[in-house]
Amino acid sequence: MEKKFIIKQEKELEEVAIYLAKLCATETHFCFNAEMGAGKTTLINLVCKKRGVKEHTSSPTYSIVNEYLDNENNSIFHFDLYRINDEAELLDIGIIEILDSNSVCFIEWPEKTLNFIPGTYVEVNIEQQGKIRTIKITS
Ligand SMILES: Nc1ncnc2c1ncn2[C@@H]1O[C@H](COP(=O)(O)OP(=O)(O)O)[C@@H](O)[C@H]1O
Ligand SMILES: [Mg+2]
Repeated sequence: MEKKFIIKQEKELEEVAIYLAKLCATETHFCFNAEMGAGKTTLINLVCKKRGVKEHTSSPTYSIVNEYLDNENNSIFHFDLYRINDEAELLDIGIIEILDSNSVCFIEWPEKTLNFIPGTYVEVNIEQQGKIRTIKITS
């Protein structure tokens, strides 16, 4: 299924976040494809909030993976793989175990880890043209 949102201002992300938060009931792996600065982290933080994550979901720019707890105390993992150079570094952070854990995983820069994702995953593509962002969600 494909869903498309045209976003002209940041507050319109609310609707996208609600849609993705609902998808978390049936899907576990979410790959975010977009250029630097397109809004991957911003959207992921908003979805986490919708899932009931209470702690401040800081941008994981300096950490490769952050773990949050949703309102039912289930883990949500947020990966930023921008700095990962090879598979060995992924294995070092225990990515296989995390991806196999059945927890919701939001992945920025997912290219290097696609081979390790068990089963299907949701693709979130963000394209930015000036102030307008087109967000396509394929599940
Ligand atoms: N839909 C949006 N509309 C306007 N500004 C946005 C939107 N999404 C993100 N931003 C802003 O763009 C900047 C970069 O966003 P960020 O989520 O860090 O991007 P990425 O994780 O893709 O590198 C932030 O300052 C954020 O507030
Ligand atoms: Mg980011």
